[in-house]
Amino acid sequence: MRLIAANWKMNKTVSQTQDYIRSFLKFVEHPESREILLCPPFTSLYVAHQMLEGSGVKLGAQNCYYEKSGAFTGEISPPMLREIGCEYVIIGHSERRHIFGEDDEMINKKLIACLEEGLRPILCVGEKHEDREAGMTFKVVETQVRLALSGIEDMSDRIDIAYEPVWAIGTGVPATPEDAVAVHRFIKELLREMNPKGEGKTRILYGGSVKPTNAGEFMKHPEIEGFLVGGASLDPESFAKIVYSF
Ligand code: 13P
Repeated sequence: MRLIAANWKMNKTVSQTQDYIRSFLKFVEHPESREILLCPPFTSLYVAHQMLEGSGVKLGAQNCYYEKSGAFTGEISPPMLREIGCEYVIIGHSERRHIFGEDDEMINKKLIACLEEGLRPILCVGEKHEDREAGMTFKVVETQVRLALSGIEDMSDRIDIAYEPVWAIGTGVPATPEDAVAVHRFIKELLREMNPKGEGKTRILYGGSVKPTNAGEFMKHPEIEGFLVGGASLDPESFAKIVYSF
């Protein structure tokens, strides 16, 4: 089943979250026909969980630390997220990598910690503009996937991967569906090699300037197994249009 995920990033207070969910739930029909996921900021998770209960819409966090508890000021752990009703966690988003300096080793540790807690991570990978110009897209994505899954290759069926080319994030310039499909196929093939028993259970999502106006074009391709949506997920009607674009 396709997964359509909203990554709100650092947007919406608790009251704005309440307004959004009240409005969004009016658009939700047949939630069982696709997986719908909201990833609000940490501060909104509790209220979002209460409001989403019974709606079929799932809840995820945008990040976490890899220790369970301890002297790590400002961090949030997988058990905290689990108890508050999260099923998913976005890991290794390009903003975490490039603004906050997360490297592949840290991302690997975070994936392991999430899996231990029974959370389903959405691992984000994607090349920068200069990588694409240099013809390095596949190499960069392969390295990110291999390092992130180092030592946990046999658990790859318990994660999803979002292919988010860095140059397409927040720019209004998405990848073409054909370019995205090529990378999605490449990742699928790589996972098949790394974990032959995974049975293709890892969904490959596309992210980067997905909008109601272009979502349908992507969804014509079965290789696009969902979306991770930033800006266009901040308005409930716009996100609902993307959710029901196929
Ligand atoms: P935009 O949809 O705003 O381009 O952001 C994509 C993204 O980073 C989702 O994680």
